[in-house]
Amino acid sequence: MLVKIPNTDPMKVDGLRQHLAGGTLLVVLMLLRLVVRVRTAHPARASTGSPVLDRVAWLSHRMLYVLVFCQAASGLTLALQAGLPDVLFDGHGALPADFWVFPMRPVHYVISRLLMALIALHVVAALYHTFILRDGLLRRMWFGRRYSRIEVDRRRPDRD
Ligand code: HEM
Repeated sequence: MLVKIPNTDPMKVDGLRQHLAGGTLLVVLMLLRLVVRVRTAHPARASTGSPVLDRVAWLSHRMLYVLVFCQAASGLTLALQAGLPDVLFDGHGALPADFWVFPMRPVHYVISRLLMALIALHVVAALYHTFILRDGLLRRMWFGRRYSRIEVDRRRPDRD
């Protein structure tokens, strides 16, 4: 939506302000999430039963943090390159004719697409656990028992 608004439209400044606030909020939430993840007890790692898929899951979970932080960092750098703080907060100056003249614009675009692909993979993986493996993985996001059926089976090898 933001990209479709021309930079000459006064609405664009509002859109960019909200985009900046949303992006910053996301980083704060992601940092909080990271602290909680590192400092609190959490269930044993779930398994698909395939070492390759488990490795992909391990890597993609870490990449979600990395890409969100890189997305926000590239957005903030782009904002500085384009002199946005003056326009957004002081009402001075004007938006550039096109953000693509700044080196960080393609970086922000590429990271956004990588992030979208990773989020799609994450959703597909959750559906795979839920409907193919039927291991109740999503229940770990709720209260109560925080492990998937595959972990239970591993803890009790006598069970099938
Ligand atoms: C995690 C946080 C962020 C996400 C997920 C995000 C996402 C996006 C996406 C998807 C686009 C459109 C890319 C395209 O299709 O070409 C975009 C554009 C943009 N973002 Fe962000 N962004 C974030 C943080 C920021 C921050 C903090 C700023 C600082 C102001 C910022 C500034 C911009 C600018 C200037 C554009 C270009 C708009 C245009 O070309 O008209 N972004 N962002």
